[in-house]
Amino acid sequence: MTVSDNYFSGKVAVITGGSRGIGRAVAEALVSRGCKVVIGDVLDQVGQETVNELNTRAAGVKAAAYIHTDVTVYKDVLALFKFAESEFGGVDIAFLNAGVINKPDYMFSPLDDEAEKLLPEVNISGVVKCTRVAMLAMAKRGGGVITVTASCAGFLGPFAQSIYNATKHAVVGWTRSLGMLKDICNVRVNAVCPHWVETDMRHKITKKGEVVVDPYPAFVQQSPTVKIDTVVSGVLSLMEDESRNTETLLTLPPNILRVQEPIQPFPEQSNPAYDQLAEQYEKDALVYYKSLLGPALKKYEQA
Ligand SMILES: NC(=O)c1ccc[n+]([C@@H]2O[C@H](COP(=O)([O-])OP(=O)(O)OC[C@H]3O[C@@H](n4cnc5c(N)ncnc54)[C@H](O)[C@@H]3O)[C@@H](O)[C@H]2O)c1
Repeated sequence: MTVSDNYFSGKVAVITGGSRGIGRAVAEALVSRGCKVVIGDVLDQVGQETVNELNTRAAGVKAAAYIHTDVTVYKDVLALFKFAESEFGGVDIAFLNAGVINKPDYMFSPLDDEAEKLLPEVNISGVVKCTRVAMLAMAKRGGGVITVTASCAGFLGPFAQSIYNATKHAVVGWTRSLGMLKDICNVRVNAVCPHWVETDMRHKITKKGEVVVDPYPAFVQQSPTVKIDTVVSGVLSLMEDESRNTETLLTLPPNILRVQEPIQPFPEQSNPAYDQLAEQYEKDALVYYKSLLGPALKKYEQA
């Protein structure tokens, strides 16, 4: 897959969870292609250092900016996108990548209400809130592209990662539900679904150097990883290839990009009456949702 440098040149991207790891690698790739990048993260010092380095590499041109953003809070998410607009003039691209993982012994940990809050809030609500705001920021400008970070865990189910898997299945479902946005406001949404990548998140699981009884860290330590560059290629291709919409792209070891197709609801029999009903619904829904966009944009402008 080739990446045309021209697609990104002069565009503006917002990246959540871009202070380090996969988000940072995508930020570097975008800046090197002439894109302006705004990073929103909760790791303020690391995020500011990343942005300083990106600006140093851009040789005197302001290429990147940082703003503290907790993706679970609408106020922060709105501030992130408004900041991108005031710094660089608008938003064309969003990489919604902020995420957290559970400890492997989650299932038998204390029954504490807090235990079920963090992962769904960051991995699901964070993606949902950022998508809704990104969509408005992009619609205002005539369109754009959103890539969310799901995971192979959006299709698989290792026991030790049960709640993480559930959140990433949700991100896959969210992505696949948004196809109509392209026709409503010219915004495409796709998901990158990496296998294990060498980042701080993986180190949290492998517990390198520690002696642990749980067999999962050792299993993950010996599991194959996908190169971060492969994940970056996948992300860039989902952004620049305008035919891609609601795609879930697996990035697999050692260097494989493969689209995971959704299942068909009625594979064994055709149902022309239902097909016709669905076609008519799509037409009616498009008219209805287009009528809601204008008022939503007005509220976004006033926020
Ligand atoms: N590393 C892997 O093996 C792997 C595999 C598949 C998917 N993923 C996904 O990739 C994404 C990036 O993870 P990574 O591997 O680079 O790990 P990472 O821990 O290095 O990066 C995650 C980033 O998200 C940020 N973040 C966490 N909570 C946040 C919040 N509430 N608001 C804003 N930012 C927040 C963190 O501060 C961090 O910068 C995650 O969504 C993760 O689930 C990772």
